[in-house]
Amino acid sequence: MADSVSIAPAEGKLGVLLPGLGAVSTTFIIGVEAVRQGLAQPFGSLTQMGTIRLGKRTENRVPTIKEFVPLAGLDQLVFGGWDIFPDSAYASALKAGVLDPRLIESVRGAVEAIKPMPAAFDRKYVQRLDGPNVKRGANKYDLAMQLIEDIASFKEENGCDRMVMVWCGSTEIYMESDPVHRNLESFEKAMKENHPAIAPSMLYAYAAIRSGIPYANGAPNLSADVPALTDLAHSQNVAIAGKDFKTGQTWMKTIIAPGLKARLLGLQGWYSTNILGNRDGEVLDDPASFKTKEVSKLGVLEHILQPHIYPELYGQISHVVRINYYPPRGDNKEGWDNLDIFGWLGYPMQIKINFLCRDSILAAPIVLDLALLLDLGARSGMKGIQEWLSFYFKSPMCAPELYPEHDLFIQLMKLKNTLRHLKGEELITHLGLEYYD
Ligand SMILES: NC(=O)c1ccc[n+]([C@@H]2O[C@H](COP(=O)([O-])OP(=O)(O)OC[C@H]3O[C@@H](n4cnc5c(N)ncnc54)[C@H](O)[C@@H]3O)[C@@H](O)[C@H]2O)c1
Repeated sequence: MADSVSIAPAEGKLGVLLPGLGAVSTTFIIGVEAVRQGLAQPFGSLTQMGTIRLGKRTENRVPTIKEFVPLAGLDQLVFGGWDIFPDSAYASALKAGVLDPRLIESVRGAVEAIKPMPAAFDRKYVQRLDGPNVKRGANKYDLAMQLIEDIASFKEENGCDRMVMVWCGSTEIYMESDPVHRNLESFEKAMKENHPAIAPSMLYAYAAIRSGIPYANGAPNLSADVPALTDLAHSQNVAIAGKDFKTGQTWMKTIIAPGLKARLLGLQGWYSTNILGNRDGEVLDDPASFKTKEVSKLGVLEHILQPHIYPELYGQISHVVRINYYPPRGDNKEGWDNLDIFGWLGYPMQIKINFLCRDSILAAPIVLDLALLLDLGARSGMKGIQEWLSFYFKSPMCAPELYPEHDLFIQLMKLKNTLRHLKGEELITHLGLEYYD
């Protein structure tokens, strides 16, 4: 066995702070409460249901992940958040319409007191929404300072020992990295000057990192993915991860595309369309927010299929992604995919996928896993970008000189090997020659 990393125990309360108390956040909070009360099971969560093989296949050592590494238990979690609408987690969950109202009612006592703090918000960045529960401030820096105060008061009032923040707010308009994001000095100056390149989600990321708490971004907007904030996270010993929860169609893409590449089957085109009727769908109906999502969704195939290495197979892919806002469907998204592929001697074939999914049901366990694993990372002294959490994201953050790893199975191996590494267990390479000596 290699040396293990020293991991501080998961004692006391873990505050989970959620900018955006909408469909995903409330499905997560109410779900955790329902599991705590024994009303439901945490399906879809690796930290709650997953196992990890240790040592040789002949050793039969397969503990659950939560037995293997010291994670905070569900009963140690305390929830808080911000939103532009003042609805409690209970009221917001009823409006989101994801969960059965009877389930929401059965945990009402535990979640009704979770009321959102006033948001740092600017309509310029989420044009389809407007709400009354917002902060006023002299400038963006002032708003960030108010968020830092919110974090400190939440910690104090709830007796939290540690905290994590997971952005579950709306997708902001498309923005590219700007020179003001280059370093902390230019970033803070830009905040004070109300520079348009500083979006509200960046204020939350800045506030979290400055407060020493890990930050994950569940939406595709840049947020912490700028040099000023990745450097700050590193220098402050704070773990960060992002971007954009990998749930429905993109999750499916990162399963199918590695399979095509493994068999050297070519791809001519991949057409993906969705109908979605929740608030997220409404926000994404705005072309500026959709562009942020589109960029996040389009990158996946390019990185998995590597057209520069396989030009005959993947050099000419037509990849189209559409999201259509269609209110009757609510959170129950329907995705259609058509793949035009080709095989031996160039003979064409097609694959059709019709995925009737539930967006927030897929996203909620990801929020839980990220909160628990980021907290584990923090207690293990991990800082800066946490590439081992790529498993959860459509646009995984990685070091500037790397390309992101999108293949779901490589991501899972990376995650589990990171856990083995933390505990000083042998990494699993799947070579396995020793069984045949
Ligand atoms: N559900 C999924 O499968 C999935 C997958 C990937 C990414 N996401 C992303 O997760 C995010 C949340 O999704 P959702 O379905 O819960 O959306 P939602 O619209 O139900 O909730 C988002 C909430 O964020 C609030 N908000 C917006 N800007 C804010 C700000 N500056 N501060 C505080 N609150 C703010 C909105 O008022 C809203 O209540 C979206 O960005 C979505 O794109 C979701």
